Amino acid sequence: MDNRPIGVFDSGLGGLTAVKELMRILPHERVLYFGDTGRVPYGSRGRETIRRYAAQDMRFLVQHDVKVVLAACGTVSSTARDIGESLAVPYLDVLRPTAQAAVRQTKNGRIGVIGTAATIASGSYRREILTLNPAIQVFEQACPLFVPLVENGFVAPQEEITRLVAQRYLAPIRERGVDTLILGCTHYPIISATIRSVMGRNVTLIDSGREAAIGCREMLRANGLLNAADATAEYHYYVSDFDEGFRQIAGLLLGQNLNGQVERIDIEKY
Ligand code: DGL
Repeated sequence: MDNRPIGVFDSGLGGLTAVKELMRILPHERVLYFGDTGRVPYGSRGRETIRRYAAQDMRFLVQHDVKVVLAACGTVSSTARDIGESLAVPYLDVLRPTAQAAVRQTKNGRIGVIGTAATIASGSYRREILTLNPAIQVFEQACPLFVPLVENGFVAPQEEITRLVAQRYLAPIRERGVDTLILGCTHYPIISATIRSVMGRNVTLIDSGREAAIGCREMLRANGLLNAADATAEYHYYVSDFDEGFRQIAGLLLGQNLNGQVERIDIEKY
């Protein structure tokens, strides 16, 4: 039993899709979230910059005495696969649990992967899927405009601009006849209604935030790190820059008002 918080980080608010699932499946845990809102997006940056940012994000969490670090960011997970190896606490990212869920799900062996430019350029999802099952066909597409659309609040299913962008990005993947689509960036589940309407109801969407949260529960269980079953959940949110968007979208996504619960920190100190 361990009452220290679970540490979760992302470049912005996408990692909250993992927090949302943690709230549901681990209702007795404390969660400490860091969103690097001052430096988002990571997905259009080079590998070294992404590594440096991720290392700072993890140092912030570890210095706040978390029991595990969850990289709820597809970009960090894909471009800095080894980054958690030297940490003093267990580390997990979104890549493996998400790829496993997609491989379990597909019936026709055709999986689509969408993510940031850095995630798709890394080829990490393709490699992970083919390691699990070399017979699967993988079709990838970078969707760099999705993150700014989400961070700026264009998330409602009736947002015309988001729908047009989605149609443009997703058409080639849809034409390949995939039956499973990995939302390889944790921001994307926030616009899953739009993605679903473009892809059609027969395509299963795999939410990387959700799968990472499920992976985190397994890991805590296996290592005897769960909190007491009668403990009260607690959530603390930190950002590197204040923006009203974070509070608004976070409130919408998590179904609660985060007023007064979001604190700004200087990530460059870590
Ligand atoms: N949520 C991140 C990811 O999963 C963010 C993308 C970004 O910062 O570009 O890739």
